[in-house]
Formats: sequence, C-alpha cells, structure tokens
Amino acid sequence: MKNNRWYPLYHVAAPVGWINDPNGFCTYKGQYHLFYQYHPYSAQWGPMHWGHVVSSDLAHWKHLPIALRPDESYDRDGCFSGSAIEHDGKLYLMYTGNVGLPNGGYQDQALAVSDDGIRFTKYEENPILPAPTSDSINGSDFRDPKVWKKDGKFYCVIGSKNVEGTHGQVLLYESDDLKDWRFKNISARAEGNEGNMWECPNFCEVDGQDVLIMSPMGIEREENKFVNAVDSGYMIGKLDYYTGIFNHGEFDLLDYGSDFYAPQVTQTEDGRCIMIGWLAMWFADMPEQQDGWAGTMTVPRELHIRNGKLVSVPAKELESLREGSVSHKNLNISVPTQLDGVKGVTGELIAEIDTAKSENFSIALRADGDEKTLLTYDKETATFAINRENSGAGPKDGREVVLTPEEILKLRIYIDRSSIEVFVNDGAAVLTSRIYPAETSQDIIFIPNGDKLTLKQVTFYKLGQGIAQ
Ligand code: FRU
Repeated sequence: MKNNRWYPLYHVAAPVGWINDPNGFCTYKGQYHLFYQYHPYSAQWGPMHWGHVVSSDLAHWKHLPIALRPDESYDRDGCFSGSAIEHDGKLYLMYTGNVGLPNGGYQDQALAVSDDGIRFTKYEENPILPAPTSDSINGSDFRDPKVWKKDGKFYCVIGSKNVEGTHGQVLLYESDDLKDWRFKNISARAEGNEGNMWECPNFCEVDGQDVLIMSPMGIEREENKFVNAVDSGYMIGKLDYYTGIFNHGEFDLLDYGSDFYAPQVTQTEDGRCIMIGWLAMWFADMPEQQDGWAGTMTVPRELHIRNGKLVSVPAKELESLREGSVSHKNLNISVPTQLDGVKGVTGELIAEIDTAKSENFSIALRADGDEKTLLTYDKETATFAINRENSGAGPKDGREVVLTPEEILKLRIYIDRSSIEVFVNDGAAVLTSRIYPAETSQDIIFIPNGDKLTLKQVTFYKLGQGIAQ
C-alpha cells in the first residue's frame, strides 16, 4: 500500500516513481493530454520515459500507459522534454533524444506518432533534427522542442545556449510537415542576468500578444529574487515570422514560490492559454521519495496580460472539484482566530483582506501546535511572504514578493497534501511551494500582527479527488 500522507488528491502525480517537467500538454480528439518526464523504476531521476495522463475537464485525470521509453540509439539515455501537436487526425510528439548527457554526449530531436492518443510509434527516420554545428550555438545543450502551427506552417522553439556557455537562447525552426525542419534564427537570447542555458521554451498567444516562456539555468540571485536553483519566466513581445526574431520586453518571473519549473502551455478550443508547471525544484529535498514517488504538477493556470505583465489564475474548470463550502463575512479580529469549517489537508481557501482597515497579518496553513506554514503580509513594504521553516519535513526556508498595494488583498489558495499554491490579487503574483506536514496538521489560523485584521470574506471549499490514489 502506498503511503498517501503527501500524495496529492487532485494534482497530477505518477502512481510510483519520479516525475519532472510536464511534456506534450495538448488537446487531442476532445481531451486534454498531459505527459511528463518520468522515471518509473525509482523515486530518483533516471533515464527518462514519458508518463501520460488524460482529462476531459482539466480537473479529473486518468493514468494512461507510458507513452515513450528510451529504447533507440538516438534516445538511449532518455526521452527528454518536448511537446505534442495534432496533425491530420494523428497526435505527434516531438521530443529530445538524449545520448550520453549528463556525462558528455549530445542531444537531438525526434518524433513519435499515434492515431489513438495512447500508443506511440517512433518515426523510422529519427532523429529529425541533429544538434546544430554553428559558432553561435552550443550543440551539447539543444533540447525541449515546443511545436505550434501558424498560417499552415509548423514552428518550434528549442532551448539552447551560446558556444561559450555564458548565455541562454532560444532557436526557432519551421517545417511544412513536422519532419523536415529549417533553422530560422536565434529568436531571443539572454541579456544581462538572464541565465546561461534556457530550458523548456514555450510560445503562446495571450490576449493578442506573443509570449515566450522559458526556464533559465544559472540566473544569479538578486536579493530576494531568483533564489531557487533554477527559474521560470516570460517575455511579452511580437515574433517576426519572416526573420524569426522575437522582439520583446523585459524578462520576469512566473512564480515566486520555491517549487515551480519548466511550465508548458496549451491553447484550449475556446482560445484560452493554459499553463501547467512542475511543482518541485531541482536539487530540493523531497521527503516523498521515502514513499516511493517524487514530484507533482501544478494546477492548470489560465494566462492573461494585465498592465503589461503576464498573470495566471487557476483554470475555471478546477471549480468542478468543489464539494461543499463554508463562508464567513466581514470579521474584525484582534487575536489569532480559527473559523468554523475552515481547515483541512486539502482544499481551496479564498480570503479577502481589507488592508486599509488592517495592520500586518499572517495566515497559518496546515497548522498544529508548532507546525505551520506561514503566509505573511507586511503593509508598509507591500511584501507578501511564504515561510516553510516550521512546515514539517523537507526544506526550511522562505520566499517573498513585493506587490502593488491594493485596498482589498485577495488570496486564492490551493492546498493539497504536500503543496500550496497561493494566487495573490487575481494572479498578479503566484507563490507555489511543497510542504511536508503531519497529516494531523490541518488548522488554518488568521493571525493579526497588530491590533486589527478585517476579513471581508473567507470561503473554504472542500475539494474532491482529481487523480487516482
Ligand atoms: C528541465 C530539464 C529539461 C530536460 C529534462 C530532463 O527540467 O532539464 O531541459 O529535457 O529536464 O529530464
């Protein structure tokens, strides 16, 4: 029997074994498919397979058989990250074949195809795209193709770095048939402190603008920013499909928690851009490995552009997980307070705080005695922080973000057995972190750090099961 103390109730995770990046997030024949970097034989990273789940509503997921295994000469050390696209009724996976790395070697791109969305056959002429030889592209790190279609042509971006290994960059290719690819250009490259290798590039149209998402390695810490081992961020701009150049604004982070990486996006049939990330972090302590599994996916998040920034909110489909709620309105509190029905190891918490009428405050989640995960708001600096020093097992640290102050501070928080995702002010900032509390730590406590805290509204939803237990 698997120990479910930290196993998610509604986040995608593998039945056993290790997972990292989401892969191949797409719609095919009316369903959402999500694949993931998978090592089924242990809870540690190893030769990568592609695990596979499917959903008709982005909230309830079913496991499908492993889609790709590293069993060919060109992918023998791993079927690394990649993407999926429907073409002529078939589902194509474009992924990176890893040979030798991380101990020397090279990477190339390969294709697999399915006509039922379940069984995949690797293309006989793989690899379709060998590592480039160029004096501005380093061929040893050449991975994670994200493919899309525009005006009848296929395009893909691939993660890379310069020859010296000092700057990350994204390469753009085009194709008429997904098999023969032509190099267009280096679409965008790191300038300044933007990393020395860009992994997992993604490209999407959000609210009429082009957005490049990527996961840079090697960004230097800047005070309380870029604290994680690796980061994920975005740039808003316009891709010139003729030159292949992406003209863009500034690089910014997608998430301020300790566990968010390698997100993938897909466009829904009604035109929304939905993103899912890996809810874990390279090199982090992952206590769930003791239980035979490691890593989960974030909830799906809908992307929008607001005031020139990319914001992300939980996909509306997640509301279908709700199974009953309690609500409290207009409370003025001056001592730590628990509210009837507001507690749990899983659930969705919505809290609206009237900052004009409140002083600084904290909210303790998954609390019991000394054990707690603390969210704290400092009014003077408009800093919102998450602290895991007393969260239980696992990493002990904190993360923070400076907000644009709003009179009503809105929080929407997804709690699952070993994670919390905090959406602040309709996605203006998101903080995603793993936590490993005892199953008995279920309380939620509102804590004024002064005399007054005005809760305009608190609603707690019990959530149902979204993934097999
Ligand atoms: C990102 C990454 C990808 C690679 C995969 C290997 O987390 O390093 O660049 O394809 O993981 O598992």
